[in-house]
Formats: sequence, C-alpha cells, structure tokens
Amino acid sequence: MRVVALQTSPNTDGLTATMAEAALAGARSLGAATELIHLRQRKIEACRACEAGWGRCASHGECVIGDEFAAVRVAMEEANALVIVTPVYFGDVSEVTKSFLDRFRRCEWGGEARLRGKPVLAISAAGGSGGGVVSALAQLERYIQILGLIAVDLITVTQRSRPHKVATAEAAGAALVRAAQGTAGN
Ligand SMILES: Cc1cc2nc3c(=O)[nH]c(=O)nc-3n(C[C@H](O)[C@H](O)[C@H](O)COP(=O)(O)O)c2cc1C
Repeated sequence: MRVVALQTSPNTDGLTATMAEAALAGARSLGAATELIHLRQRKIEACRACEAGWGRCASHGECVIGDEFAAVRVAMEEANALVIVTPVYFGDVSEVTKSFLDRFRRCEWGGEARLRGKPVLAISAAGGSGGGVVSALAQLERYIQILGLIAVDLITVTQRSRPHKVATAEAAGAALVRAAQGTAGN
C-alpha cells in the first residue's frame, strides 16, 4: 500500500505541508508507505495548449513538455491512493496546482485515464483571512472529477480551524488507506 501526497506551497513547513504530513501520518498508522512531493520544488511548466488547442495529450495521453511533469505523474499512477493539498491563493488553487492538474487532466482525457477509480483526499489551506477556502476546494474537486478520482474526503482548513483540521487530516489519511484496501466501512 503506497500513498503519495502532493503539496504545492513554496513553504515546506507551513499550513499546507502540515496538512499533507498529517494525512500521510494517518496513512502510515495503517501500515502504508508514504511519499510527500513538494511540487513547487519540481520544474512544472504551464500547459502550452499545443497545435489548435488539442495536442499530443489528446491523441497519445502524453505531454510534449520535457520537464518533471511525467515523473510526478508516474509517482501518482503507481500509488494506491493520493493526497492533494493546495494553498488558497485569490480564492483559488495555487498556480503550481493549476499548472500540474491542467496538464494532468488533458493527458488522462486523451490517454488511458490511469487514475480513474483511485481514492484521493483533497485539501485547501487558507492561511490568510480564510476567504476563498471553499471556492478553492470546489476547483480542486472539479479537477478530481475530470481525472476520475474518488474523493474520500474534501477538507478545508484555515488558521482558525487548524487545530481540529490537522486531526481531521490524520483521520482522513487512515480512511484513505481503508478505501484503497476496499475495507472502508468495515
Ligand atoms: C498570492 C497569495 C494569495 C493568497 N490569497 C489568499 C486568499 O484568497 N484567502 C486566504 O485566506 N489566504 C490567502 N493567501 C494566504 C495563503 O492561503 C496561505 O499563505 C496558505 O495557507 C499557504 O500557507 P502555507 O504556505 O503556510 O502553507 C494568499 C497567499 C498568497 C501568497
């Protein structure tokens, strides 16, 4: 059992990363191997909308840009379950989240949809006023739906809710493993 988390804040010890770490701790409590990917540290360009808008992604399920996107994609495909945590920027997912998931949804759309049916935990972390935490999560949910992932939980967190939401993320990480094992509800 392997769980991979993407956290997309530039801060590796902030609210976003803390939520990802908590979810992975919950997964490890049930014996899962875990990996935390700090996506901001990877070279991930924005989609170029090749050709007339549909490029090689549509015909072959692959992106033509030779950066680290493909390696992170493989890590996600090889995982049994996923955690995606975005900081809230302007009431939306972060630019890093968007650049990655924009390309991912195109490749999955045009290819084999290799993530389809995989359980995921999605979290939006608003470290400012807390405004926009729901709209960011709604955008993340939209990506999840297009990718065919199964949302085990969708969680918001702000500085005010941080104490109980860190505990929630840990419990959700364990629930994610149970979902991947097919033992949820048992
Ligand atoms: C460009 C930018 C836009 C932001 N927009 C919002 C926002 O709309 N609402 C909010 O509550 N916080 C906002 N914040 C604060 C981030 O949500 C906060 O930095 C986030 O939780 C990431 O914190 P972390 O780096 O500690 O994980 C913004 C921060 C930045 C840098």
